[in-house]
Parts: sequence; structure tokens; C-alpha cells
Amino acid sequence: MIGVFDSGVGGLCAYERLKELLPNEELIYLKDTENAPYGTKTRSEVLSLTKKNVRTLRERGAEHILIACCTASGLWSELTDEEKSISTPIIFPAAAEAVKAAREAKAKNDISSILSGKGIDKEIGSDGGLVAVISTELTAKNHTFKKAIEELDPAVSVCEMGAQMLVSLVELGARDGILFPRESALLDSICKDIKASGASALILGCTHFSHLKEEFKARLGEIKIIDTARLGAEWLAKKCKQEFTKLGQK
Ligand code: DGL
Repeated sequence: MIGVFDSGVGGLCAYERLKELLPNEELIYLKDTENAPYGTKTRSEVLSLTKKNVRTLRERGAEHILIACCTASGLWSELTDEEKSISTPIIFPAAAEAVKAAREAKAKNDISSILSGKGIDKEIGSDGGLVAVISTELTAKNHTFKKAIEELDPAVSVCEMGAQMLVSLVELGARDGILFPRESALLDSICKDIKASGASALILGCTHFSHLKEEFKARLGEIKIIDTARLGAEWLAKKCKQEFTKLGQK
């Protein structure tokens, strides 16, 4: 059995993807609405909620747990070895995808600069390109994605933006294609800032924002949208399938 948790409806995007990829696996979802939102809490508060959720899901029979919350996943390294061994933080596949996107965009930009006779443009981000991350307040404050990306490639620059307000709007029902004018205007203004940053990719660094993926896509045009919830679920499903194959071979 796999347990999945988040403070609210964000992690459901990962849960649904897991269900598609592992149809025969039993899944349970823990929605910690009682303590939501996580993004406005302190590091130590979110760490103790994370530990509590891991414990609860384990007691309910989960053999593995997907931390389908970027805010909680950012504190994964502070869990005990035992807690770490049964849990997967959702953030790393998105960080890896962002590095790939930044490198590709940088290479494309360099080629067109050379072809136009301008030479390589050192002004676009750093040498490794630029990635934007939109997340909860705590994820931005902890530089969760920046640190993960730096570990993979220190040449990639990261522009972090907290958008806690969007978490509440998604909890209240904002979804792709279902937005009040006020919500749409807020997204317009966030996307204007993202475009102005010059980033080649945007990480949806809070699982709640996966519910608005198409809205981001429609506003951001060429900027690649990286869906942390989906990629994290796919990563865990792959790990599980490899485990099943190994068990089958025994
Ligand atoms: N969905 C969560 C995340 O990915 C938490 C949002 C919140 O509770 O603030 O960070």
C-alpha cells in the first residue's frame, strides 16, 4: 500500500497520476486540512506535521509514502533515516527537469546568437540559463528548489516567487477553466512577472498549482511548465515497478 499526503487538494494530482500508473496498487490519501495551510507555518511546525503524517500513514498500513507537498518535501532531509527510507519527497524530478530545460534553452539561445553574429549572450540568466519557481511562502523562504537545482547544476539561476494566495484559491475551488475574474487577474499579474524574469521554464513548486497548469500554459506561451506533482508521482511509480520486477525475479 502507498500512502500520499498533502495539506489539502494539491497532492490529489499526484495521487490520481499514481492511480493511473499503478492500477493494482492500494493507495490511501491523507489530506491534513486541519493544519492547512503549511506554507505559512514555520519550518519546525511543518517538520513535525510531516513526521506525524508519515507515522499515521504507516500505522494505516502504508509501506511507502509519497510526500505530495513541496513545502513538506523541502524538509525531507531532516527526517530520521527510518522515516526517509519509507518516504519519497516530490521535488527532485521537477528540479532535474528544470535543469534540462534551462540547458536546452540556453543552448538554443547561444546558437541563435552565434548565427545572428552577436556572439553568446551572457545577459540571459547566468551561464546555465534561468528557471522560475512559484511556490508557497515557506518553500520560497527555505530556497527548496534553488538548493535542489544548485546541487544538480550550480550554473542554472533560479528566480523564486512565493504565491501563497493561490493555495487558498485552489482550496476554494479555482481550477483550470473555472476561475473568477479576480482569480484570473491575479494569475495574469503573476505570469507577467514570470515572463519579465526571462526564465525559460517555470516549476509549479506547490502541488496545489497543478490544478491551474493549463491556465499557466495559456498565459506563458513558450515557457515550459514543469508539473512537480505529476513528475513526482511518475518517479515513485517507476521505482515501485522496478521493485515489483525485482520481487518477481526472486
Ligand atoms: N500543496 C502544498 C505544497 O506543495 C502545500 C500548500 C500549503 O498548505 O500551503 O507545498
